[in-house]
Amino acid sequence: MNTLAGKHLVLGLSGGIACYKAAELCRALIKSGATVQVVMTDAATQFMTAVTMQALSGRPVYTSQWDAREGNNMAHINLSREADAIVVAPASADFLSKLLHGGADELLSLLCLARPIDSVPLIVAPAMNREMWSNPATQRNMAQLRADGVHVLDVGQGDQACGETGDGRMLEAEEILDELQAFFTPQVLAGQQVLVTAGPTYEAMDPVRGITNLSSGKMGFAIARAARQAGALVTLVAGPVNLGTPRGVRRVDVRSAIDMLAAVQREVTQAQIFIATAAVADWRPDTAADQKIKKDGSGATPQLAFVENPDILATVAQSPAAQSGALFCVGFAAESHDLLAHATAKRLRKQVPLLVGNIGPSTFGQDDNALLLVDAQGAREVPRASKHDLAHELITDIARRIQSVPV
Ligand code: CTP
Repeated sequence: MNTLAGKHLVLGLSGGIACYKAAELCRALIKSGATVQVVMTDAATQFMTAVTMQALSGRPVYTSQWDAREGNNMAHINLSREADAIVVAPASADFLSKLLHGGADELLSLLCLARPIDSVPLIVAPAMNREMWSNPATQRNMAQLRADGVHVLDVGQGDQACGETGDGRMLEAEEILDELQAFFTPQVLAGQQVLVTAGPTYEAMDPVRGITNLSSGKMGFAIARAARQAGALVTLVAGPVNLGTPRGVRRVDVRSAIDMLAAVQREVTQAQIFIATAAVADWRPDTAADQKIKKDGSGATPQLAFVENPDILATVAQSPAAQSGALFCVGFAAESHDLLAHATAKRLRKQVPLLVGNIGPSTFGQDDNALLLVDAQGAREVPRASKHDLAHELITDIARRIQSVPV
């Protein structure tokens, strides 16, 4: 499920240095399967050429309400009626103030005013200097725009083009993309708290060496992102991975299985859904040396002994909350063969209502995957797709189970 596929968006650019991020955003939207009609104010064309935006969107850009290409000369009506949403990024302080007052002296503000307010949402990504952003006039305008039903995105924080540092930067293209995906995602987990484990664990042998596995954490991170986009409050307990935290997700980093169990036990008391995607190491060295184990030149190898790690999923599944049905537990199974048989047995052994099977070697590190959903009734295959799409599919499936809607 890709929430932006097939959506038609008007991407409006008003004047600001953040126009360069709008180019990235346009590209990302097209890649996500949306169609994009770019509309630019005069000020925006000082920062970015219409030619660039045309090349990225694959459509001629509109910059004037007098555009002769429109047979009826009503670009503001035609463009706004076709859109699933109008996204203004960057939205300058001046443009936002114009929106607030219903100004309409150029095409972009005119089409925002002319949009059917109930069916064409208006989403704005403010971009300005920190003093402009914190000015009471701007803050008053933001509050009123929200009250008028405009979806105002956050601003970023950090270095600004003017050399100052503070709030007011436009969000990065990837962050706006995430917000737009969330905007179009049905809020099936609104109000739910979700706990996800992801990635491998690392079991130390000594201060510089340890045992781990090839899990990249991508599936767990995609699930955390999808759950947040579906309206949940998400905590992600992550083993050592090289991935950015999904927007709006609270992340707790851990290293070993013991650390992961402690973090999960602390966090799970708040959760209604627990999704264990982590590839937890089954064993750890029984002792971790305080100092690096050195070669002594004799050819002797270290004698490692292992102890079994706690089973985090099984431990949580045994808790009163899980047993009473107040906590819905989902396990994953990474197998190399006989997926259905192993996943079915694992679901029963771990005592979870849903177990998601996948073939380890064809998922670790990949951007796509195929899943087998195993429950008490049987199994359902979810064909190969991106981990992003699979994560949304799984979240929708879990939401139906929680609401007792047939899956
Ligand atoms: N799991 C866990 N704690 C462990 C081992 C596994 O929470 N110590 C969870 C995983 O996050 C996953 C599920 O249990 O949701 C199954 O993990 P998997 O590694 O496939 O199974 P194992 O229990 O390790 O069984 P086996 O190695 O025999 O396949």
